[in-house]
Formats: sequence, structure tokens, C-alpha cells
Amino acid sequence: MQKVTVKINKGYDFFVGEDVLGGALEPVLFEIKARRCAVIADAAAEKYHLDALSAVLSHAGCEYVCYTLAPGERSKSLSEYGEILTFLADNEICRNDVIIALGGGVAGDISGFCAATYMRGIRYINIPTTLLAAVDSSVGGKCAVDLPEGKNLAGAFWQPEAVICDTRFLKTLDEAEIRSGAGEILKYGLLADGRLLSAAASRESCVSEDIISQCVSIKADYVREDETDFGVRRFLNLGHTAAHAAELLSGYTLPHGEAVAYGLSVITHAAEKNNMCESGLSDIVDASIKAAGLPCAASMNYSSADLASAAMGDKKRSGNKITLVIPRSVGKCFLHTMKTDELAEFLACGTGEK
Ligand SMILES: NC(=O)c1ccc[n+]([C@@H]2O[C@H](COP(=O)([O-])OP(=O)(O)OC[C@H]3O[C@@H](n4cnc5c(N)ncnc54)[C@H](O)[C@@H]3O)[C@@H](O)[C@H]2O)c1
Repeated sequence: MQKVTVKINKGYDFFVGEDVLGGALEPVLFEIKARRCAVIADAAAEKYHLDALSAVLSHAGCEYVCYTLAPGERSKSLSEYGEILTFLADNEICRNDVIIALGGGVAGDISGFCAATYMRGIRYINIPTTLLAAVDSSVGGKCAVDLPEGKNLAGAFWQPEAVICDTRFLKTLDEAEIRSGAGEILKYGLLADGRLLSAAASRESCVSEDIISQCVSIKADYVREDETDFGVRRFLNLGHTAAHAAELLSGYTLPHGEAVAYGLSVITHAAEKNNMCESGLSDIVDASIKAAGLPCAASMNYSSADLASAAMGDKKRSGNKITLVIPRSVGKCFLHTMKTDELAEFLACGTGEK
């Protein structure tokens, strides 16, 4: 088992390893004196892994009720959020009870937002069951639901009591879900550690506790410096302006990790065309993306005009300015602010239209 401590005001531990659930969860439940939990479970995670969680909760003497989320981004909605709050109230979940998220980024994000807002905030524990949630979304405390106008537009920063990634749970993921998680691993590779670029190419390395804890350590360092995303944490948005725009344009049918890989490719091509990065960087990035079976800029047909207009709902926009994370070389990036009316032209260098 490996442990990464997220050192912020209300610090917490991320545990990862094969069969770690009981050994990590029971002490946390004991420490926070949890007697009742509301498990908010993605339907697939529930089908495959609720029994294992249930056994640990029962051994710890913790009662639970379970709310099932339909798989997919559509569940990260205001209406689902309302349904969950009603479920919590109907089941008399109190302020000293605990929410447990069991699932991928969707379950984690909406559970965290419910935890942040139900009764003005209750505790929660995140149990990521997708690779993407394991390496990225389960850590850092960003939680949200989507609005029709854009992703994650209603949300909060609400840190979990602990995050527990039992790598047994990742064994039931299909290849598409592994690829999607690999998109975020590539982001960490381009942002901070080039070794992760090659790690993303194989399922075995992607789901290893070493790679997962390496990604989480990188994220934890940024979060420690800037919990609320006004400073260095913005570097974690590498590739995400085009990614979120492509997700919106696809009607949220494009998996997040695939969108991130595409966004990394677009931004690197745009940077290279504008002499903002080392020459040849886009070839390196595209080769890693293809090796992981993910889409690069040339694999998709979104126009720069559509991407730029979809990016207007992006949280990284401020008035008529938007800040992009630009790769300079593998492991080195910088922030660059431009006028929103220059974005389409810049992205056109990334999509291949220019
Ligand atoms: N909060 C953050 O910092 C942050 C960071 C990155 C992404 N996100 C969000 O995360 C979401 C994407 O997360 P995701 O890719 O995990 O998607 P997801 O939660 O929709 O899960 C993807 C699919 O995997 C299935 N699944 C989950 N666990 C499984 C298991 N163990 N075995 C088999 N199938 C399983 C689900 O049913 C679903 O079909 C997006 O909403 C994105 O915005 C949040």
C-alpha cells in the first residue's frame, strides 16, 4: 500500500494498493466516529464492488443506505443533485453521518457537492473505482455538477476525509475506461514528469499503485500550494480548455480522458506553431497519445471557431480574457493569458486549420 498525504488546511490521506479497502477504511471510520453512511454509488461500481464495501462497513459497525447513480456524465446534473439531497433527508442522514462516494469522477464530483451543501456540509470519503478518478478527480476537493451551459458550473471546494483506491476495483474496467484514465496520466506526464507519457501506453502500468500514487503526488503538490485554483493549481488545467469545449460540443458523449488527450494535442500544436515551445514537442505528445489509443488533434473534426465559442462558458475565462496552460517542453509549462477574441485563431493552429 502507498499513501500520499494531501497537505492542506484540512489535510487527508490518499491510500492506494491491492486489497487496501478494509485496512484503510476501518481506521478512518473509527477515527471520525462514523456510525451511519450514505453510499452514493455508480451503478457499475455498485454491481461489482458494493459487496466488498458493505462487508467492511458491517465489520466496522457502520450502517449504510445506498443511492444508485446511472452511469455517465448525465448523472452529474442539477436534477440528480436534488434527488440525492432528498434521498439523504428522507433517510435522516445527519450532520455527523458520512457520505461515501463509490464510483468514478461522476460519482465523486456529485457526492462531494452533496457533502459540501447538505446541512451546510457533512463529511465524505471518496472511493474511486475508475482510473481517471484514481489518478485525478478523487483528490483536490473540487466537486460539482454540470449545467446545460457548461461543465462543472455549480460546485464547491470540499475536501474528503480520506480517499481510498483499492486497485482490485479497477480490474472490472473495460479498455475504454482505462484509456480515458490514461488521458489524465498523459497530462501529468506533459506537465511534470515525462516518464508518465510512456506509462500511459499499457493497462498494467496505468493501474499500478506506483503510477497512481505518482500522479496523485503531483496533483497534491499543486493543491497544497493553491487549494482554490486561483494560482498554480491552474496548471492542472493543461489541455482542458479544448477538452471541456470538445466535451460540450459532443453533448458529453466524449469521455473526459479522451477529451483531455485531444486537448493536450491541440494546445501543443498551437504552442509549436506559435514558437512557444520546443520544436518537435507536438510529435512527442501525439506519439504518446496514439500509443495510449487516444485521439490527437488530427483525429477529430471540431473547428477552432466552435471550440472557442464553446470555451466561452469556461471557468478559466475572466471577462474578455482567458488563461491557457502552454507546454514549453516535457515537464515544463507556463500560463499565458490572451483575449478571448484571439482564442479561435490560436486554436486553429492546434486543430490544423492554420
Ligand atoms: N473533481 C475533479 O478534480 C475532476 C478532475 C477530472 C475529472 N473530473 C470529472 O470526472 C468525470 C469523469 O470521470 P470518469 O471518467 O471516472 O467517469 P464516470 O464516473 O462516468 O465513470 C465512467 C464509466 O465507468 C463505469 N465504472 C465505474 N467504476 C467501474 C468499475 N470499477 N468497473 C466497471 N465500470 C466502472 C461507470 O459506470 C461509467 O460508465 C467528469 O465529470 C469530469 O468532469 C473531475
